[in-house]
Amino acid sequence: MSKLYTNLANVYHEIYQTLFNYDEEFEFYDEHLKANKIESIIEIGCGTGNLAKRLITANYQYLGLDLFQEMIDIARQNAPKAQFVNGDIRSFKQTKKFDCAIITGRSISYLTENKGLIDGLKNINQLLNIGGLLMFDAIDASKLFLTFENEKVDELMASFKDNHYKRISNNRINLQNGWTWDWTSVYFKKNIDGFFEEIGNDFSTLRAFTQDELTLFLNLTGFELIDILPKKSYAWDDNFFIARKIK
Ligand SMILES: C[S@@+](CC[C@H](N)C(=O)[O-])C[C@H]1O[C@@H](n2cnc3c(N)ncnc32)[C@H](O)[C@@H]1O
Repeated sequence: MSKLYTNLANVYHEIYQTLFNYDEEFEFYDEHLKANKIESIIEIGCGTGNLAKRLITANYQYLGLDLFQEMIDIARQNAPKAQFVNGDIRSFKQTKKFDCAIITGRSISYLTENKGLIDGLKNINQLLNIGGLLMFDAIDASKLFLTFENEKVDELMASFKDNHYKRISNNRINLQNGWTWDWTSVYFKKNIDGFFEEIGNDFSTLRAFTQDELTLFLNLTGFELIDILPKKSYAWDDNFFIARKIK
C-alpha cells in the first residue's frame, strides 16, 4: 500500500466516488449514530473526506484520521469545515475523547497483522468516552474465501466528470497473516486521443475477517460486541460491527 493513497490519491478520490455510494454510506452511519445519540466522532481511515463532508453538514463534531498526508490534503479541500489529522491508528494517541469511532470503507483490511490490529483497537479504545461506541465494516472472510480461487484477475471501468479510468487488478491468495491476499493493480486514464494510458500501479496486502476473529480482537481490547449486521459494498460482502467500550 501507498501509491493508491499517495501518488494516485486524486485517482482514488475520483474512482471511489463511482464505486462507493457515499450518500448511502452516510445514511447508513447516520441512522446508527442517531439511534445511539452520538454527537462526536473520530473517523479512522477517513481517506479524501467524502463521509466527513456529509457528517459535518449533519452537525456531528468530527475528526478524521488518515495515514497518508496526500489523502488528508484532498479531504481538507473536500470538507473544509472538518478537522483532519495525519497519523497511524496503530500508534495514534491524543487526549480528546469521542462518543464514537468509525473505521470506514473497509480501512480495517489494511491492519493485516494481529499485533497492529490489537494496537489499533487499543488506541481507539483510549480515544472513546466511557461507554463509547466503535462501528466499522470488514470484508467477510467466510464468504470471500469460499469462492476465492488462487488468483483472480478483474477489470474495472470508472468515469468521474470528464475523466475515464480503467483498473486491472490481480488478487492472489497469500494467507500469511490470516485471511490475507495480495492485490496488485494497474491504473489507466483515457488520454485526449481516446487511448487508455498507464498512470500508475499499486501493491497492497489486504485482510478479510471472520466474525469470530473480530469478536476475539474486540474482547481483547476492552470492547463488548453489540451487533453484527450484513452490509453490501462493492466487489465483496461486508460485515458491519458495533461494539461498546467496557474498560
Ligand atoms: C479503502 S480507503 C477508505 C477511505 C475512506 N474511508 C473512504 O471510504 O473512501 C482506506 C484508507 O485507510 C487509510 N489507512 C490505512 N491504514 C491506516 C492506518 N494504519 N491508520 C490510519 N489510516 C489508515 C488509507 O490511507 C486510506 O485512506
